[in-house]
Amino acid sequence: MKNILVIHGPNLNMLGRRDPQHYGTLTLEQLYQALIDAFPMLDFTFYQTNHEGEIIDLLQDACDQPYDALLINPGAYTHTSIAIRDALEILTVPKVEVHLSEVDNREPFRHVNVIRDVVDATFAGRQLDSYLEAVRFLEAKAVV
Ligand code: DQA
Repeated sequence: MKNILVIHGPNLNMLGRRDPQHYGTLTLEQLYQALIDAFPMLDFTFYQTNHEGEIIDLLQDACDQPYDALLINPGAYTHTSIAIRDALEILTVPKVEVHLSEVDNREPFRHVNVIRDVVDATFAGRQLDSYLEAVRFLEAKAVV
């Protein structure tokens, strides 16, 4: 069974309490379950952390693990973290970036994206559907 590493960054553990217009109403657990239900033939390994260094540790550890792909929503670190960008560059499996909200149509500081050009594709603005599209993209590329 193909295994996708799924990493969520800061404040995404608070889904369900964040602005539903941007982030929808699902909790992170419900979002995990929706992925499992939509892709029963795939194995997902889920992590969420509020700490930048922990995301980097997870990405470094993933270099030595048999993951087939990475799906990452780095939250606000998307817009600031050169360190996460550098760690993503080291990891060689196919990588997709996902956002619940349409970051390019929000505040100008969210238009800065320091990781977009080190991932294979970005899916944003469609809440849960951003995630479903991202996994379908990996399926279409025969990665998973
Ligand atoms: C987010 C967008 C980021 O700008 C924000 O800081 C988040 C969530 C999204 O999924 O839409 O925490 O990554």
